[in-house]
Formats: sequence, structure tokens, C-alpha cells
Amino acid sequence: KIAKVRAMEILDSRGNPTVEVDLKLENGTTGRAMVPSGASTGEREAFEMRDGDPKRYGGKGVLKAVENVNTVIANKTVGRCFGSQRELDLLLLELDGTANKSNLGANGILGVSMAFARAMATATNTPLYRYLGGSNAYLMPVPCMNVINGGRHADNNVDFQEFMIAPHGATSFRESIRMGAEVFHALKEVLKKKGYSTGVGDEGGFAPDLKSNEEAVEVILEGITKAGYRPGDDVSICLDPASSELWEDGKYRLFKSTKELITSDDLVKQWDSWVRQYPIVLLEDGLAENDWEGWKNLTQTLGSRIELVGDDLFCTNKAILAEGIEKEVANSILIKLNQIGTVTETLETIELAYKNGYNAFVSHRSGETVDTFIADLTVAVNAGHLKTGSGCRGERIEKFNQLMRIEQELVGSAAFAGKSAFKNA
Ligand code: PGA
Ligand code: ZN
Repeated sequence: KIAKVRAMEILDSRGNPTVEVDLKLENGTTGRAMVPSGASTGEREAFEMRDGDPKRYGGKGVLKAVENVNTVIANKTVGRCFGSQRELDLLLLELDGTANKSNLGANGILGVSMAFARAMATATNTPLYRYLGGSNAYLMPVPCMNVINGGRHADNNVDFQEFMIAPHGATSFRESIRMGAEVFHALKEVLKKKGYSTGVGDEGGFAPDLKSNEEAVEVILEGITKAGYRPGDDVSICLDPASSELWEDGKYRLFKSTKELITSDDLVKQWDSWVRQYPIVLLEDGLAENDWEGWKNLTQTLGSRIELVGDDLFCTNKAILAEGIEKEVANSILIKLNQIGTVTETLETIELAYKNGYNAFVSHRSGETVDTFIADLTVAVNAGHLKTGSGCRGERIEKFNQLMRIEQELVGSAAFAGKSAFKNA
């Protein structure tokens, strides 16, 4: 039985307001959740409610979403007994009554959903990954670390948003993190030597001005080698160009470097040539969310060679994913809880992906908090890989630390996903 639900406005890692929810069960157990927030959001994401009052936080306040939790949601949930996560989440959906949660706000709804999961896990004396995933949760993920930031996440001249390293050659998560951190530090030296800036972007990756987008991959390869690892065998590259941000009148604008406008076909050819040239195992949002024809082409070209992840394309939405499966677009889906707005719907989307041979790639947002829910979620669904930052910034590192705690707790039953976590690798 829920005894109390209380939301308040807190700050995220970019200093923007977001929602925190504290939930208390009748037996005294509590659960707290903090909701993340994206910058390069998909058009079809669930509705993030912001106040729009220019006198507070430039319009970004979340007092309305907080108020909705403390009134509408609290009124209908406090004093009520919920037998499962699903039962609570279905009620939240009903209370909102819209397809995209625009009535109460997905930020408030998700906070309640996650806080309930935490409280229930504690009440049943179960770690969160087991509460969410059951007895077969065992797989430790490869951490895809976003070591060079560009696009909308940094003020540099790099068009593409994320250049990640995947230290899959380890035998455990802990070793994988060590390899990743070593490459991160080696990369810093490489950049310094070339006279580049080593300041970091929103997700903790370096954000230097470079001569070209290719150079981002090249300095990373140098960093991998410098740290003593073999590119491709020990550490591979993953990319999230966040191509929806480049989309302009049916073409793609390299909006920060050359300002060139290129066709969808050209961009697919570029990815094909990059995959031939570099040890790339995963490409997320290689094309824009509104370029479904292009996505078919991309999937035909690269879908049997690497993992193709749909982020803005699918928005963690089961119905959109079903469309993608039917049209044979991508072979993996990015999972962000706040794109859809409840824990139950997130799990349903992952289930649909798995049933159809798609991978699930769990993700943080560029605006984060110290909440580590996604660390547990990744293990719960045996996703095998996640992205949650780089080699610095506490709000990201805390997820890695939580995964190291989980691995320690699962000693004897955990396995490290390794390179096979990636589709076609
Ligand atoms: P966002 O970026 O959190 O700013 O949307 C992350 C991503 O595109 O994967
Ligand atoms: Zn993305």
C-alpha cells in the first residue's frame, strides 16, 4: 500500500530543473527517483512538461509536473494497494489519458513509476535489477563510453554527437571500465599533444575543435593504442551522430564543420566507408527519424555487418518499434525510460525487441542526475551493453560504480557480455 507520494523540483547535470519523487509504502519503506532530460530529443518522445514561465529558469521550471504528482497522482494512489509495477503504471496511464502523457507530463509520471519500483524492491528485500528482471538477470554490459562529444552536446566544430569506445575485450565489467578509463586518459594526452582542448561536453567526453569528423575517430584509435590495447580486438568504436539534428529539407546539413548539404544516400555511403575503414561495431541514429526510406537503405547496406540502433527513430515506443520491425529497419533499439514515461512500457518495448531479434541498448540522457536506475535496468534485461557517459562527470560515473557493485554482488553467477553483445560482431 502506498502511504505517501511527494515530488519536488531539483536540478539536473546541466543545471536545468527536473523532477524528483519520493514514495513511501505503508510499511515505512521508501523509494526515490530522479528523472533525466534530453537535448537532442526525438519528435515522438513522451511529453516532458515544462512551465514555460520566462521568469523562472528561462521557462524550464517543472512546477506544474511536480504539482500534478502531488495532487492528481497522489490523490489516486495514496492509500491504495498495488499488486505489481504493471498495476500502478496502468493506473498512471489512465490518469493521464493521452497517448504521449501530455496531460500530467511524462517527467512526473516516470518519477512516480521509478520511485515505486525502488520502494517495492526494498520492501521485498530484492536488488532493483532482480525486482525488474527476475531470477535470470546476470549479464554485465559492455560500457560504451562517449569519449568525444560533438553536435548539440558541445560547442565545438564536430557535426556528429557521440564517438564512443567499447572496451569489450575484458573478462569482467570492472576490467572493462578500467580499460575504458585508461583509454580516456590516454586520449587526453593525445589531444594535449596535438594542441587541442581537453575541456569536456555534456556527457563527459572531450569536445575539441578538430580538422574533420574523421579525425575524432582517428584520435580515439590513437588513444586506444597508446593505452596498450588493440583497436577492434580489445576496444571498438560506436557512433551516435544523432542525424535527426542534421536533417534539413530532406537532406543532411553538416551544420558545424563545412555547412555542406548531403543526401541520405551520400550519408549511407559515408557510414559504409567508415565501417570498412574503422573498427566500428555500432551506429545509432545513422539517419534521421523522418528518413524511413533512407533507413531501409542503411539497414540493407550495413544491417548484416554492424549493430544499427534506432534512438530518435523509435523513441522507446513499442508501436513505433513494431513499425520498424515490419519495415525491416534497424536491428537494435535505444532504451531511454523518459522517452516513453513508465517502467512497464519500457520493459514491454524491450520484450518486443528481443522477440524479434533486435538488441536493446540502454541509455542515459545528456541531462542526467545521480539516479542509477538504468544500471540496474541494463542487468535486469541482460541487455549486454549500455551508454552512460565517459571517463568523468559524477552523474555518469555513478552508473558505472553501481554496475561494479552489482557485479560484485552477482559473483559466481554474473557473466560479462563481451563483443558478442553487439549485433553481428
Ligand atoms: P539526448 O542525447 O539525451 O540529448 O537526447 C542522447 C542521444 O541522442 O542518444
Ligand atoms: Zn542518440
